[in-house]
Amino acid sequence: MSNSRVIVSLDFPDGKQALDLCQKLDPASCKLKIGKELFTREGPALVEKLIASDFDVFLDLKYHDIPNTVASACHAAADLGVWMLNVHASGGRTMMEAACEALDKTSHKPLLIAVTILTSMSQEDLVELGITNSVEEQVIMLANLAKASGLNGVVCSAKEASRLRTELGEEFCLVTPGIRPANTNSDDQKRIMTPAEAINAGSHYLVIGRPITKADDPLSALDAINASIN
Ligand code: C5P
Repeated sequence: MSNSRVIVSLDFPDGKQALDLCQKLDPASCKLKIGKELFTREGPALVEKLIASDFDVFLDLKYHDIPNTVASACHAAADLGVWMLNVHASGGRTMMEAACEALDKTSHKPLLIAVTILTSMSQEDLVELGITNSVEEQVIMLANLAKASGLNGVVCSAKEASRLRTELGEEFCLVTPGIRPANTNSDDQKRIMTPAEAINAGSHYLVIGRPITKADDPLSALDAINASIN
């Protein structure tokens, strides 16, 4: 188990590229995130391989289905040995409680966090879904619902972190993407914060992809980020 607060996002089209990068990283210096593309291509075998190499893995599959199906999927992910997994808060209280109950029965209980409103969604998108709250109100409402349903935290923008920290307390885990070290390319991210700014705003864990995965020397890039927040 690493103490690092950096989760490296393995946004690769295949396992070979992901493993090539992971061989350059140290499991004591970071955790890893596997999302839908890599998981759909490589399946549980890659997750198990990385866990066997001592990496903590966040399985970012954002489950959203009927409670029984989500609970079973969460149980299956816990059996793989993942460190963290997630569901959509908009699946509702019964779904989230069923997921927590399923994880309570596992021997190795991962952290369960919720996605509130995807940062790709605009106010107009919410209106089309019949939601009249502002994006911010909806994020706060869903984060409160996730906490009341027993979840450990939420994925959120670092810009939302200080308000969520105030509303939901120190223990509720905030996992934030959209992080860029000073003087690096922001790529397609619009509302960015540096690692230190995000930690100061209340983030527990930083999801960071390209600033590490596309660096000439990924380990040095990771070390510099860790040094900036330690
Ligand atoms: O390369 P970069 O650091 O931008 O990667 C960020 C990762 O976090 C990507 O996997 C992206 O899909 C994910 N993410 C995000 N914004 C969100 C939720 C997830 O950038 N709101």
